[in-house]
Amino acid sequence: MAKVRFTETALRDAHQSLLATRMRTEDMIPIAEEMDKVGYFSVEAWGGATFDTCIRYINDDPWERLRELKASFNHTPIQMLLRGQNLVGYKHYPDDIVTKFVEKSYENGVDVFRIFDALNDIRNMEKAIKVAKDQGAHVQGTISYTISPVHSLDNFVELAKNLEALDCDSVAIKDMAGLITPTAAYDLVTKLKEETGLLVDLHCHCTSGMTPISYYAACQAGVDILDTAISPLAWGTSQPPTESMVAALQGTEFDTGLDLKLLTSIKKYFVDLKEKYRGLLDPISESVDTDVLLYQIPGGMLSNLISQLKVQNAMDRYTDVLEEMPRVRKDMGYPPLVTPTSQIVGTQAVKNVLEGERYKTVTNEVIEYMKGMYGKSPAPVDPEVFKKVIGDEEVITCRPADLLEDEFEKFKSEGEEKGFVESEEDALTYALYPLIAPKFLKCELEPEKIPGGPGPGTGTGTGTVIDDLPTEYDVEVDGDIFNVKILTTGGGTGPIVVEECKKKPGVVLSSMDGILIRLTVEEGDEVKAGDTICVVEAMKMENNVQAESDGVVKEIFVEDGDELKINDCIMVIN
Ligand code: CO
Repeated sequence: MAKVRFTETALRDAHQSLLATRMRTEDMIPIAEEMDKVGYFSVEAWGGATFDTCIRYINDDPWERLRELKASFNHTPIQMLLRGQNLVGYKHYPDDIVTKFVEKSYENGVDVFRIFDALNDIRNMEKAIKVAKDQGAHVQGTISYTISPVHSLDNFVELAKNLEALDCDSVAIKDMAGLITPTAAYDLVTKLKEETGLLVDLHCHCTSGMTPISYYAACQAGVDILDTAISPLAWGTSQPPTESMVAALQGTEFDTGLDLKLLTSIKKYFVDLKEKYRGLLDPISESVDTDVLLYQIPGGMLSNLISQLKVQNAMDRYTDVLEEMPRVRKDMGYPPLVTPTSQIVGTQAVKNVLEGERYKTVTNEVIEYMKGMYGKSPAPVDPEVFKKVIGDEEVITCRPADLLEDEFEKFKSEGEEKGFVESEEDALTYALYPLIAPKFLKCELEPEKIPGGPGPGTGTGTGTVIDDLPTEYDVEVDGDIFNVKILTTGGGTGPIVVEECKKKPGVVLSSMDGILIRLTVEEGDEVKAGDTICVVEAMKMENNVQAESDGVVKEIFVEDGDELKINDCIMVIN
């Protein structure tokens, strides 16, 4: 038995799981050199939700972060999490963008690409795998682990063999909610080692509480790599603690050979850092949640769900939604619950419960999913539900990205013309996030303040203040942080929040917090009840807002890209 190696997740998954992905580049760099001395298999430091958070909230350039990390990690490979054809976004991108993104990621510093697809549809991974291999990177194919009547050991082994055929160097078992039992871990790792020549990595979250036992079972089965997080950022919805796992394996045939003293000095840094971010730490994320054993809901999804319910003032329906979730998952053919399927299933479950009728309305993502646009579902969609949502519309059977036209050059020239794209990396940022990237690329993004940290409202004044008066506050209510903005009514492009407009007959109010992606009507248009009048992105899902009655669009108060709060006025139809 060879020694077991570790992938340290502190700089990506651990803070994504516990600190809402908000760790800043400036907090990573000071400890990077020390971490580089440890001898990890890799340090996971890029991809997943970090890219989005960088440009949406904290105003860090993700590409610059990667370059700075690369300059500090001279010995340790830098690993990223890539969502196959979704890259670091939530939808499929065309092949030319996938190619350019993987090339640029490698060029700027990624050494190990962990590539997964939420449906385990290899067609959604093959492009990224090929390009990463062509660069000379280590490519880790991924099994999105889940439990369902249609998932079996043999399915997973089959997938691993297909990944091996695509020339992957290793395979990761990605267990988003810590559902894998010690026996299942033992059996799966054993089989993967027997039937493939791949290095095997086990990546679990601690949500269910079983994970350290499963890790040990995996060691006994010959696992090569385990994912751990330095202890201040471990447990709960994150990974098992690095130091504890090192100690547990010391003196055994699995001994990692890692230096506990060095790890302890690194730990001290993260103890202090955790205090800086404490305001972001949801107590739910930090604890073991055995509900996951019943509902199979990953930790990140639970906090997402809770915030959706709170916004709608419906926390009393929490249990109903938890129970609806597995039913929606079954209807949809048992997708593993990981980004983006976790959001698709979770949001639909919330809708089904709050709207009092199942599938009364659905997000665009549910429609696309059922049409096969995300790939092949593990089992067919329930026929009744399919009929209600899709009716007689065509379903696709080809590789979804085959239907997408190349787009990179279009975004590049458009961004250059508008003056905010200066490099191919900028162009990628724009192509991936056309709605939110311009603000970031134009350097107009106000970095979000860490709740409870220094800044307006707490008096220490090191945060950013617009002009002289603070216009944005973080308010804590029952442990939840709400960001409150004061909108000016003159000259601003924000939605009108004047109470007056709400009194107008036929006013359409936003039923959710979100971003207005696009208006589908103009002033003067005639609409029928049920027509889509605009599309709002909420919790990363697209929701069609429909007219409730026939009428004429009299007045529109919002424009594309506006942030909407619940009960903001959108338009008047009468
Ligand atoms: Co993870």
